Amino acid sequence: MNTRPTLKVNDKGHLEIGGCDTVELVARFPTPVYVFDEQYIRDMCAVYRETIENEYGGNGLVLYASKAFSCKAVYKIVADEKIGCDVVSGGELYTALQAGFPADKIYMHGNNKLRQELCEALDCKIGAIVVDAYSELDMLDEMAGERGMVQDILIRVNPGVEAHTHHFIQTAKTDSKFGFSISDDTAEKITAYALQKKNLRLTGYHCHIGSQIFEKQSFTLAVDKMTDFMVRIRKDLNFTAKTLNLGGGYGVWYTDEDKKITPAGYAEYLKAIVAELKEKCAQYDFPLPYLVVEPGRSIVAEAGITLYTVGAIKEIPNVKKYVAVDGGMFDNPRYALYQSKYTALLAARADEKPEEIVTIAGKCCESGDIVCADVPLPAAKSGEILAVLSTGAYNYSMASNYNRNFIPGAVLAYKGNAEYIVKPQTYEDLTRNDLIPERLK
Ligand code: LLP
Repeated sequence: MNTRPTLKVNDKGHLEIGGCDTVELVARFPTPVYVFDEQYIRDMCAVYRETIENEYGGNGLVLYASKAFSCKAVYKIVADEKIGCDVVSGGELYTALQAGFPADKIYMHGNNKLRQELCEALDCKIGAIVVDAYSELDMLDEMAGERGMVQDILIRVNPGVEAHTHHFIQTAKTDSKFGFSISDDTAEKITAYALQKKNLRLTGYHCHIGSQIFEKQSFTLAVDKMTDFMVRIRKDLNFTAKTLNLGGGYGVWYTDEDKKITPAGYAEYLKAIVAELKEKCAQYDFPLPYLVVEPGRSIVAEAGITLYTVGAIKEIPNVKKYVAVDGGMFDNPRYALYQSKYTALLAARADEKPEEIVTIAGKCCESGDIVCADVPLPAAKSGEILAVLSTGAYNYSMASNYNRNFIPGAVLAYKGNAEYIVKPQTYEDLTRNDLIPERLK
C-alpha cells in the first residue's frame, strides 16, 4: 500500500481516507462508492503550480486534464488551487462552467470537435482551442469571424515519441488519430494554413505523448523534438511559437510494481522538463515559450478509492478463487480495457497480511468483468467491505450503465468530513430517458 497521512490504516486497523474511517463511511454512503481525498487533489495541484512558479518564473499554466475525473466539485477545487483545466467535450466544458470555472483558464481538446462544441467554446470565451484538423480550422475561423472575435489556438502535433505504456494509451506514435506529424512536413503545412486565418491567432503547439509514463526521458525527449520543430518553423515560416503545451502523462502507483511518488516528488517531472526546455532554447536562441502541462491521472488517481461489499465467493479447485463485489466494469472498466492492475484490501482488516491470491470479479454478465485479477488478500467473507486503491482517475469518468447497473456516487473526504459530490444513481435515473412509442403501449 502507498500510505500517506490522508490514506492510512488507523488504530482500529481500518482503512482511513481524508480523516474518515471507511468502515464508518459505508454506513452513510452505501457501496459501491468512490471516495476522494480532497487534500491529495489540492496538494497535487499546488505542487505543479508551484513548480512552474519557482522553476519557470510563473511563465506557464498547469491545466488539470479533467477527462480523468469530471464533476462540478473537482472543478471547484482545481479553480481554488489556481490552476486551469482542459476539456475534451461540450459536456466537460458545460460542467466546468456550471462550477464557475474561469473560461479563460480552459483549453479545449478533441480530434473531432463538433460545431456545437466549438460554438460553446467561443461563446464562453475559452482560453484556447487546440486544433486537430484542417476542417476544424476552417470551421473555427468562420465561426470566430461571425462573432467578430479572434480566437487563440494551438496546433496539436505528433512528436513521434514512443512512451513505455500500454499501446492503447500511446498517442504520439506516427500512426495516431491525434495530431500532425513533425517528422515530415505535415505539421509545417497546417501551420502555414493556420497562419492565413484572419480570425484565429496561432500561439503555438501542443503534444501529448501518452499516459501512465514514469520515465522522465520520455518527456525530455518530447521537449527536444518540440524545440527542434519550433526552431525549424521559425526558420521556414518566420513564425515564432509563444506557447508550448506538453500534455500530461505522469505515472501513478496502482500496485507495488509501480513507483511510489509523493506529491512533492511529482515536481521532479516538471523540473526535468523545464531544465531541458531552458537548455534547448538557449542553444537555439529561441525565446522561452509559455509552458503548459496537462496532468490528469496524477492529480486524482491516488486521491480516489472505491469501496465495495463482498458478495458471492466461488472457489474453482486448483484454478482460482473469485471474490465478487457489488460493482465491476460499470464503475471501473480499466481491467476489461487495459488489463489494468490494482491493489485491494479489506477495509476493516487493512493491516492484516494477505493469505491467498484471489480474483475480484464484478457483477456484470461478462467473463471479462474483473476489477482486479490475481491479487493478494486475507480470506474475505461475504458482507465485508473491500477497498480498491488508486481508482480516482478514469473510473467514474469511464463508468457506464452496463446491465443497467447504477453508476456509483462519489464522496469527498476532507479533514474527517465526508459528503457526496456526485449522488449515486437511482432506478429512476436509469429509465429517465426511456420512451415507449404509442403503438407499443
Ligand atoms: N492531455 C491530453 C491531450 C490527453 O489526451 C490526456 C490523456 C491528458 C492530457 C492527461 O493525461 P494523464 O496525465 O491523465 O495521463 N482512459 C485511459 C487514459 C486515457 C488518457 C487519454 N489522454 C486510462 O484509463 O488509462
